[in-house]
Amino acid sequence: MTETVHPVTDEWAKRAFVDNARYEEMYQRSVADPDGFWAEQAKSLDWIKPFTKVKNTSFDAPDVSIKWFEDGELNVSANCTDRHLATRGDQTAILWEPDDPLTEGRTITYRELHENVCRLANVLKSHGVQKGDRVTIYMPMIPEVAYAMLACARIGAIHSVVFAGFSAEALAGRIEDCRSGYVITADEGRRGGRTVPLKVNTDEAVTIAEAAGARVNHVIVVKHTGADVAMKDGRDVWYHEVIDGTSADCPAEPMNAEDPLFILYTSGSTGKPKGVLHTTGGYLLYASMTHRMVFDYHDGDIYWCAADVGWVTGHSYIVYGPLANGALSVMFEGVPTWPTPSRIWEVVDKHKINILYTAPTALRALMGAGDDHVTKTSRASLRLLGSVGEPINPEAWEWYYRVVGDSRCPIVDTWWQTETGGIMITPLPGATALKAGSATRPFFGVKPALVDADGKFIEGAGSGNLVITDSWPGQMRSVYGDHERFVQTYFSAYAGLYFTGDGCRRDEDGYYWITGRVDDVINVSGHRMGTAEVESALVAHPKVSEAAVVGYPHDIKGQGIYAYVTLMVGEEPSDELQKELKQWVRKEIGPIAQPDLIHFTPGLPKTRSGKIMRRILRKVAANEFDTLGDTSTLADPGVVNDLVEARKNNG
Ligand code: PRX
Repeated sequence: MTETVHPVTDEWAKRAFVDNARYEEMYQRSVADPDGFWAEQAKSLDWIKPFTKVKNTSFDAPDVSIKWFEDGELNVSANCTDRHLATRGDQTAILWEPDDPLTEGRTITYRELHENVCRLANVLKSHGVQKGDRVTIYMPMIPEVAYAMLACARIGAIHSVVFAGFSAEALAGRIEDCRSGYVITADEGRRGGRTVPLKVNTDEAVTIAEAAGARVNHVIVVKHTGADVAMKDGRDVWYHEVIDGTSADCPAEPMNAEDPLFILYTSGSTGKPKGVLHTTGGYLLYASMTHRMVFDYHDGDIYWCAADVGWVTGHSYIVYGPLANGALSVMFEGVPTWPTPSRIWEVVDKHKINILYTAPTALRALMGAGDDHVTKTSRASLRLLGSVGEPINPEAWEWYYRVVGDSRCPIVDTWWQTETGGIMITPLPGATALKAGSATRPFFGVKPALVDADGKFIEGAGSGNLVITDSWPGQMRSVYGDHERFVQTYFSAYAGLYFTGDGCRRDEDGYYWITGRVDDVINVSGHRMGTAEVESALVAHPKVSEAAVVGYPHDIKGQGIYAYVTLMVGEEPSDELQKELKQWVRKEIGPIAQPDLIHFTPGLPKTRSGKIMRRILRKVAANEFDTLGDTSTLADPGVVNDLVEARKNNG
């Protein structure tokens, strides 16, 4: 496809906070004088005690240390609620759209948000939660999840939100890793017309975590579907019962800018998910500023980020960024394709959404369902479209632009990660000419660079591994409880540089084109999955001897999960076993980790030293048989032919 450039329209250049001249000027300043730049930007937050220091960061292993505004004090929940009361107490903060379009939604004003947060904060305190304690949140997409996050922030507890699609096992691992003594959940969740047994999973998870030495003191349960669930005496309490009669007066705890705000687990290239740790001041500043400028959020705009709060996108762009900005944030419980593939566009029309932020995987699924589902809706309210989570292929980009946006709305393709806290490489709608498939240019204060395998910088146009050469305020500070792993994971590949794990091309215009992960992480429907995690789930099955998991191109999901499995001696491959293994992985991790294809094989291609040659497995899975590369170092080169034959027969 030839590259089309979509220039900034005059209307956008005028309307936006940042036009191109201003982008250039601000960007230069942000990298030449980060202290001055960020000190000025930080005035957008309410500080309890002003900071005197701004940036104090080092990327030099082993002493990697990242501190921003280190002597300042503030409270995130006060910034997201209290400070809006005088000016916008009666404005909607959260507009909740339920899973089932035939049921009633909810609107929560800033005043109501504040009251609910304060009440729940008092409830947490009365149940013994103290500053620094970890609270696990395993909730559906309902307003109470935002109350829970902000209530933790209000009293200085550290929340760990676990995506409600994760299994009991996965939840247990996360409760145990951060020694979380409290869980906030719901009876059930709803998604696409089905229910998710959250309380049942929580009970099972607590049992597993406690067997491993954790201790869960209390579980707070929101009554959502009204399902009949078991409550354990002395441990479990109903949210509506404990909230009732609790005071809405709860002063916000003054927090140091570097006090932890939350942990969010994410997959890496090794087995166990990492607890990515974000802190208070820098994170909130970065989330709110990117939200304001990338989405060009002005007062009165109706903004919808269609992600789940279980992922970082929901943290930064449903809850913290928008609420710090006093925005109206739409929260959607459902899925894009239910009850029909028109749902997203119907919600857009119903609420007159101006700004929509979603993922390429959803767009590809909807694109496949046919344009009629889109064109029968108005979408006249839309002004700006956003994309996140994975590379957006130019075809999906053009469809989003032409069919969804009627060639009227700029698309901000935002590249970032759980680790970065907020958007890093992105167009700004009033400043950046767009190219389909490119995340374009760095946000303020972000210094990307490309390096080759030896760590040599690539200048000008070229391809390489994407690194960031200096700190930005939203950067993760550590892996919870394991700073060494933080240093090892991100700062050891290239000395003095933050390694993103992504490959990237830079074109003649200095635009960045993310090409995807270069490590053993795959991106399935915009969700990040460590292949090692799926492998350890598979080998935990008694019939499996060995497993190797790779990503392969998938029309809708971007990447699918391809699992090569070797069975124990005496076990025979069968369709039943294939189903059983898929089910097994669902139970061990969750539906998002379920392999799309299981390829039973008597052997895996290994080097003489026993290392699995994943490069070859990726090629075979992708049906790229002509470019397998050098197989001469294999212990048994014949294995490859067998794999290729089997793949061909598999279709
Ligand atoms: O590979 C990149 C891809 O998603 C990874 C980060 O995943 P996660 O931490 O789950 O955060 C997703 C939401 C921010 C990145 O390393 N990725 C994310 N956004 C893009 C992307 N790849 C290409 N283009 C994007 N816009």
